[in-house]
Amino acid sequence: MKSPRMITVINGPNLSQLGNREPAHYGNTNQSELIGLIEQKASVAGVSIDFFQSDIEGELVQAIIRASGNSIGIIINPAAYSHYSIAILDALNAFNGPVVEVHISQVLSRESFRSNLITARAADAFIAGAGVTGYLHAIDIVCELAGEHSS
Ligand code: DQA
Repeated sequence: MKSPRMITVINGPNLSQLGNREPAHYGNTNQSELIGLIEQKASVAGVSIDFFQSDIEGELVQAIIRASGNSIGIIINPAAYSHYSIAILDALNAFNGPVVEVHISQVLSRESFRSNLITARAADAFIAGAGVTGYLHAIDIVCELAGEHSS
């Protein structure tokens, strides 16, 4: 059953390496600090978070399917899969609720292959280039689109 206040946050490949990974693009916040910031924002917004990270496409699809059963919305950074995963696109299209796609970096001003945005076609909203703050804005957007009260 869907929890009225659960949001699933899904991070794709290499995002467990935040903090060490290309800080010029992705900043200095590591994954556990990111989870802390998300939890803090969620508690202010009155929602709970189910956070999941995987480097494996099929596991990301399964997380989206699980979210269909228990979450009001999905915040997803599919990382490199954003640019070519039809499997993730299909799973997001089947999700019944708001989807916000987040990119830490401004993908449209980087290499041209990063402008090929496949999974974003299933997103209700898209945030890129705001750093990890993008995840926090995405919580407000999901709450707004799902008709939940947010801060
Ligand atoms: C990213 C951008 C992608 O192009 C890249 O493959 C990532 C991270 C971002 O958050 O800016 O892994 O999704």
